[in-house]
Amino acid sequence: MTCFIYILLNELSYTFGGIFVSKSELRREVLKARSRLSPLEVAQKSELITRRVLSLGEFRRARTIMAYVDFRNEVKTGELIRASMAMGKRVAVPLTDLQHKRLIPSLLQDFPGDLAPGAWGILEPRPGSLRPLEPEELDLVIVPGVAFDEKGNRLGYGGGFYDRFLPQTRPGTVWLALAFELQICPEISPGPHDCPVHLIVTEERVIYTGATRGPTASFEPGGGISLGCQHCAPHDEESKRKALEGVFAQYRGTKGALIPLLQEAQEIYGYLPKEVMEMIAAELRIPLSKVFGVATFYAQFHLKPRGRNIVRICQGTACHVRGASRVFEAVSAKLGVGRNETTPDLRYTLETVACLGACGLAPVMMVNDDTHGRLTPERAASVLEQYE
Ligand code: FES
Repeated sequence: MTCFIYILLNELSYTFGGIFVSKSELRREVLKARSRLSPLEVAQKSELITRRVLSLGEFRRARTIMAYVDFRNEVKTGELIRASMAMGKRVAVPLTDLQHKRLIPSLLQDFPGDLAPGAWGILEPRPGSLRPLEPEELDLVIVPGVAFDEKGNRLGYGGGFYDRFLPQTRPGTVWLALAFELQICPEISPGPHDCPVHLIVTEERVIYTGATRGPTASFEPGGGISLGCQHCAPHDEESKRKALEGVFAQYRGTKGALIPLLQEAQEIYGYLPKEVMEMIAAELRIPLSKVFGVATFYAQFHLKPRGRNIVRICQGTACHVRGASRVFEAVSAKLGVGRNETTPDLRYTLETVACLGACGLAPVMMVNDDTHGRLTPERAASVLEQYE
């Protein structure tokens, strides 16, 4: 459900349901729409968004990130912060310096123990837990906002804190916004000091905005920090081995590097071959059984090659009652594979999931990042043909 608020003419002139509204009215209307989401909807959609962020190459490669702490009905960031810390990333949250109208990133050691209500009641670092970081140290910033368009233009809360903060980060820092689909508008006219974000993650998709303003002169999907994305991952064995050695060098001496190394290796190889796990074990000087244990514990890791296209069919309650089983059977028959299997030509991997967060479109299937809803078994099978 994309935002139905239209911005025409310029930054001060918008239409809402056919009526011209001011920027502040637009802000109010989007916030009102967002406040209508129930706690369960916010939690479910936030979980989907978190999952998408965790699988992004841009996020995985980031060693030091800053994430906002959610307030009211914003996309929740708690699980993302916890997962990032568990992955060994350095995670900062912003302290709002009202006097100087600036944000100060502060490194977390204990979440949420380091935090207490600060400006506007939002959780911020307590005075005794303030560990300031320089903005240049950040590889990725998770940005909140009221509304966005697909070009990355952002309507914030009106204080200008992020628009002042983001240009202080270094070239190559990824600016990633989290939003519910209802916050995505057709067009937002940027002001002269606004900073468009590079990526927007919603419960339905990842939007690479192509934003070129601000510190990152050009930003390609998967680019920005170090190695290429999965679409431009090295293809021959020699290049893959060199890329893996580069990753080893990047993480050498870093504590808690096992999971990031597994993620990077999987991005390079598409899965985790046994020889690669042996190389990781040798690099970290830990037993292969430990590497294997972690790789098999987390669902994000795959020990067998996966298809170029990942097909996920929802088996949640709403989809189930609207015929998800028949959709699954049709797709399974079309591909000639069962659940969690990959076609021999590596074109498709078929999976099932509990809920894709688009229950209103049930039955739902996702292929890669595309959501297909209100499916019939026939349409589900034919949709697959567009994916090479
Ligand atoms: S049950 Fe929620 S999307 Fe299928």
